[in-house]
Amino acid sequence: MTEAGKLYIRGLNKKFNVDAKEISVLEAINLTVERGEFVSIIGTSGCGKTTLLKLIVGLGGSYEGDIILNGKRVDGPGLDRGIVFQDHRLLPWLTVSENIGFGLDAKIKKAERQEIIRKHIQLIGLRGFEKAYPYQLSGGMAQRAAIARSLVNRPAILMLDEPLGALDALTRMYMQRELEKIWKEERIAMIMVTHDVEEAIYLADKVVVMSSRPGKINKVIPIPLARPRDRDSYEFIRIKDEILKEFHLEAEKYFSYSI
Ligand SMILES: Nc1ncnc2c1ncn2[C@@H]1O[C@H](COP(=O)(O)OP(=O)(O)O)[C@@H](O)[C@H]1O
Ligand SMILES: [Mg+2]
Repeated sequence: MTEAGKLYIRGLNKKFNVDAKEISVLEAINLTVERGEFVSIIGTSGCGKTTLLKLIVGLGGSYEGDIILNGKRVDGPGLDRGIVFQDHRLLPWLTVSENIGFGLDAKIKKAERQEIIRKHIQLIGLRGFEKAYPYQLSGGMAQRAAIARSLVNRPAILMLDEPLGALDALTRMYMQRELEKIWKEERIAMIMVTHDVEEAIYLADKVVVMSSRPGKINKVIPIPLARPRDRDSYEFIRIKDEILKEFHLEAEKYFSYSI
């Protein structure tokens, strides 16, 4: 289990103590994320998706079982992992450039820091906004800056916790394409939590469907479609149907009024 860039989760359990009672939030989670793979996770609110991402990134405290990245058990944060949340969490008193450079590995020299920041501004399409402050950015732009900030240390894997959830529908679709472009260019693994089944399928190599209380993995659905994906194709809609059925939704009814 030492393949470079690969993430293995085996027999993961997570419990929280609430009011002196132990609550099981994640149970028997097994998941493998290949190097450079894009994985989407969907599941009802409260099923433990954020908890799972935080554990992988090393911010979730202790856990039972194994989370192994690059052959090493995760036991705290590290530069090999990044995370982006639904709210951008940029520091309001720093410019876009300063925010992107803020978490950059302290060992990197000044001239190189500037070059890394420049490259990432370019990657996320924010040229001309280097000196802007977060309040001067649209939601989509702020989220791009947050993504850039999470990439500067070249992590092996990036966690995205509903990263596009606060954006309007059109910006969201545009950002899905941007995210795919960044993923292709950076060649790193990504795990994205989303409530949007279409978004999950559009971006992922495989979609993980979780069940709630305690959170378990119900099913892992491979998405073998060529990119960029056509949301109106028969195969896309068939997979969407399969995933909605997993959710025990009335998929037949859903499609009869959406076509
Ligand atoms: N630090 C914590 N202490 C106690 N309970 C928590 C903590 N963090 C999350 N939980 C609980 O764990 C469950 C899963 O939360 P979360 O991972 O945020 O769900 P999701 O992201 O899927 O909506 C919820 O019931 C939540 O209340
Ligand atoms: Mg969450």
